[in-house]
Amino acid sequence: MRHLLSPLDFSLQETEELLDLAHDIRINPDKYAHKCDGKKIATLFYEPSTRTRLSFEAAMMNMGGSVLGFSEASSSSVTKGETVGDTIKVVSNYADICAIRHPKEGAPRVAADYSGIPIVNAGDGGHEHPTQTLTDLMTIRELKGSLDGFTIGLCGDLKFGRTVHSLIHALVRNRDVKFVLISPRELRVPDYVREDLLEDNGMEYKEVERLEDVIESLDILYMTRVQKERFFSEDEYLRMKDYYILDKAKLDSAKSDMYVLHPLPRVNEISTDVDDDPRAKYFEQVHNGVFVRQAIILTLLNLV
Ligand code: CP
Repeated sequence: MRHLLSPLDFSLQETEELLDLAHDIRINPDKYAHKCDGKKIATLFYEPSTRTRLSFEAAMMNMGGSVLGFSEASSSSVTKGETVGDTIKVVSNYADICAIRHPKEGAPRVAADYSGIPIVNAGDGGHEHPTQTLTDLMTIRELKGSLDGFTIGLCGDLKFGRTVHSLIHALVRNRDVKFVLISPRELRVPDYVREDLLEDNGMEYKEVERLEDVIESLDILYMTRVQKERFFSEDEYLRMKDYYILDKAKLDSAKSDMYVLHPLPRVNEISTDVDDDPRAKYFEQVHNGVFVRQAIILTLLNLV
């Protein structure tokens, strides 16, 4: 039995195969319409979500399967003190696969230790978000034709943004990817990302504070929101929340084929006047998320 807890749980080749499968699902949806007849996915969300939970549910339903689960911990027996381990032992009786989001880092790994069914990490605290990463990789590959040889700017809350940590984790395996880390000093990437991922893998990277100084050098700009829920102080959040706002004027100095991605939800960091720019691809990224999650379900259930 296989789980997806980190983007590195799939090798580079397996990742390419999964993205090929997601692409095929995108262009031939009918071929997959009954692949999961009779199968069930449990979505256990101890933290809020729109895209991840609903796209997993849509993914299973697109393939003939059905869904069960909860969208907030308060409607489950966790309020009575039930552990993640006991919860997943129980849910293993009801479903064939489980996507779990939890505010505690490592909770999906604990779930996997107790589970009788494949577990997918749908986001754990400020740690990782592998299914978002695979969605990001699919979107970059569809736009650029390859996951090698480009400069990516990651902008915003690089400290708490789990999508950034997972994306860096995945991209250090590709060739000639350069990283520009754009954040205020207080929200720089954690030391383990800088030292264990970027430096130990010999990646070319720089850290800057001003987006305007580097935007013209980028092939991909990955914007992120300041993660309000992970701040200890409201004042500190308020001081940081509008640090970066991408607007049409800033995009003027970007390349004509520099694409803007964002895992969403956005707050203020991308002005809505950017949405109709042909380089704004964050809603296409959302679209790809369903195909990627279909591919993940098929792969983990050995239905490919
Ligand atoms: N990108 C993402 O994880 O969105 P949700 O929090 O809405 O699932």
